[in-house]
Amino acid sequence: MANKPLLFNAFTMNCVSFINHGLWRHPETRQTDYTDLDTWVELARMLERGRFDTLFFADVIGTYDVYRGGLDTAIREATQFPNNDPSVLIPALAHATEHLGFAFTGSVLQEHPFTFARKVSTLDHLTKGRVAWNIVTSFQSSAGRNFGFEEQVPHDERYVWADEYMEVVYKLWEGSWEDGAILCDKENGVYADPARVHPVNHAGVRYRVAGPHLSEPSPLRTPVLFQAGSSEAGRSFAARHAEGTFILAPNPLAARTNIEDVRARAVAAGRRADDIAFFQGLSFVVGSTEEEARRKNDEIDDHLSVEGLMTHMSGNIGVDLSAIDPHKPLSELRTEVAHGAVRGMIEGAPDQTQTFADLARLVTTTRVVGTPEQIADGLETWAAAGVDGFNITYVITPGTFEDFIDHAVPVLQERGLMRREYEPGTLREKLRPGAGPRLPRRHPAASYRHPRTQNRETFSV
Ligand SMILES: Cc1cc2nc3c(=O)[nH]c(=O)nc-3n(C[C@H](O)[C@H](O)[C@H](O)COP(=O)(O)O)c2cc1C
Repeated sequence: MANKPLLFNAFTMNCVSFINHGLWRHPETRQTDYTDLDTWVELARMLERGRFDTLFFADVIGTYDVYRGGLDTAIREATQFPNNDPSVLIPALAHATEHLGFAFTGSVLQEHPFTFARKVSTLDHLTKGRVAWNIVTSFQSSAGRNFGFEEQVPHDERYVWADEYMEVVYKLWEGSWEDGAILCDKENGVYADPARVHPVNHAGVRYRVAGPHLSEPSPLRTPVLFQAGSSEAGRSFAARHAEGTFILAPNPLAARTNIEDVRARAVAAGRRADDIAFFQGLSFVVGSTEEEARRKNDEIDDHLSVEGLMTHMSGNIGVDLSAIDPHKPLSELRTEVAHGAVRGMIEGAPDQTQTFADLARLVTTTRVVGTPEQIADGLETWAAAGVDGFNITYVITPGTFEDFIDHAVPVLQERGLMRREYEPGTLREKLRPGAGPRLPRRHPAASYRHPRTQNRETFSV
């Protein structure tokens, strides 16, 4: 049977040290050039040459201040700090490319939905429909403190908040302007038809928004929606809203369990099982022989900073790993920060006791090391578990992406695991050939469309 082409995102962040902490000191990486626009333009062009689907920016709006009870280690190690806003890079990168998509992370905590919806519509216009939003709720209590919350909003309540946020932005993107509202009639001096532009009058628990949306309809209207939580509440949220879900499963078994669960929830929510694409986070070290790949990998391990990794993971789970017995079972963790990663570890090895030490090593276990053929074999194993694509996390940048493009991509293309050419159209159409630029009717965003827009719709399946 012919292979289905997989999807590929390059996972990065507008900062010095992203995931593989300590590697910013490596002589070949350009991580410390993150404030230079050329770094990003060159990366975007390279990714387009390699037929990547998106350049995917993580982002946080707080600090990693849990490890050793303060911020000092994060500052020394540059653990996602300092970091710059990724969304402002997008217009320049779109101008330098033609097909590549741009996914950026935005927290519901960070920006009022009215201004956020306008920013995204502007980006969607400027990129001609190549923008995606990774919806996050901010797991760091330090992020909460930057926005006036002394106490962190409890885990499940953050998702309830996110649901209302989605309602507001859907009303603005999908409901405020009817299709056909723009007349641009220069003869009669009518730019838009007042009868087809509507207020949204949202009155909810956290937001009151009158509207109308300030931006006219953009190619996608609602951007392509990504999400990454995998707790109970996170999976249900993904099932309702996401078109792409980012998982960090420790092995294909854990990925399969997560994917089957979320797909079943999507069907229960009135969507199709395959309406959501699942992206596994992986890193790659490619060599022309296995031995060369192992040698490169050993060199990378030599640059890793355990302190940096512990700082990051302590922030991720809200537990100071410097103060905990590393052999303690993970099942004893009680946290309001993030449940999904721990659940993934437990689901990935149901017969074993997973410990805090295993969790701290998680990032290094999702690294695939080998020849291009071995890497393609590895990706096939993940695909067999139901994964639709990969978020490729750099170890060194742009070296990880360059090696992957120059050596692994030709083998993947040969096996039909990667497209040779981009599909035409917007990012939504490229990710899902045969789809239209807009969300299908069964997605909750569609319910906010004006009846006249619903009737003239030719939305694809
Ligand atoms: C692979 C992955 C990537 C993530 N990227 C971000 C990010 O860039 N910014 C952020 O604030 N949270 C990020 N998160 C955190 C999630 O959005 C979420 O807050 C966290 O996983 C807790 O949710 P959960 O308990 O439902 O899993 C990421 C999580 C995962 C698993």
